[in-house]
Amino acid sequence: MSTEPVQPKLIIHGGAGSSLKGKGGVDAVRKSLYTVIEEVYALLLAGATAKEAVVRGCQLLEDDPHFNAGTGSVLQSDGQIRMSASLMDGAAQRFSGVINVSRVRNPIELALTLQDSDDRILSDHGAAELLRELQIPTYDPLTEIRLREWMLERAGNFTREMADVVAEHELIEDNAGRGTIGVVALDSQGQIAVGTSTGGKGFERIGRVSDSAMPAGNYALPQAAVSCTGIGEDIIDECLAPRIVIRVADGLPIQEAFRRSFEESHQNGRDLGAIGIDQTGAIAWGKTSEVLLAAYHTGEKVGDTLEWQGEQLVAGIAGDRS
Ligand code: GLY
Repeated sequence: MSTEPVQPKLIIHGGAGSSLKGKGGVDAVRKSLYTVIEEVYALLLAGATAKEAVVRGCQLLEDDPHFNAGTGSVLQSDGQIRMSASLMDGAAQRFSGVINVSRVRNPIELALTLQDSDDRILSDHGAAELLRELQIPTYDPLTEIRLREWMLERAGNFTREMADVVAEHELIEDNAGRGTIGVVALDSQGQIAVGTSTGGKGFERIGRVSDSAMPAGNYALPQAAVSCTGIGEDIIDECLAPRIVIRVADGLPIQEAFRRSFEESHQNGRDLGAIGIDQTGAIAWGKTSEVLLAAYHTGEKVGDTLEWQGEQLVAGIAGDRS
């Protein structure tokens, strides 16, 4: 790897889904995403590592009730919030995460703590124990709109197939939305990291495990990193993040790795999206769903995918220093 400082790159997402029609909705989500992009990119310029930038980006997105992670997480079938998050450092090839953790403000902080632990992925009881050990104050991530949404679903006896893991127009108008969050960063040392966090797909059975705390939804190697969003089961069946990252590590340009992987996902009828960065600084994204809520910073420009109508099989790309 070159010792010359490289231009940092950043892409974040706040979910993927089926609709984002309202202009007010687009503007609100864009403002949220750009606020995070600006703050985290400034950190990268100031010399933060990719891992530090990813954790900060995830914290900010978890704190924003527009998104289904941390504050504003969706409720599960029993009316409880259980969140999952993971972090992967591409240079160290190290994955850590928590599954179905409750009463914490920033699940990504637990994933960060676990980066240096022998036991790097903890589920509910273990994660709760870790919270106690770290003396992290308990926090209730419930928002009014999520409670209302759950009560409506309960009144309808949970007849919807599943809650969207997405931004929905109606909820965004209400200043909330649904969606996993994710951050991918390349730092000035040329190292890559990725983090993903979620409240899950909503109204799910107790004990259901999200892709966001698995490599399937969040994966990095020194050559590339990818964070996924959408229906967890679809992402797991495609093993999407490693599928794209390993293609890049094997020599495929990231845009082509996204294109092939999304073509396969589309053929398999999946509902998902993903963002990624490779070691050359190329930023890429893809979706089979109609909307992908992502924003990026190339060093020269800030952009987003909110109104990206690209061919569903074609991955978008921005910024490439190769
Ligand atoms: N992709 C988030 C979930 O399905 O839990």
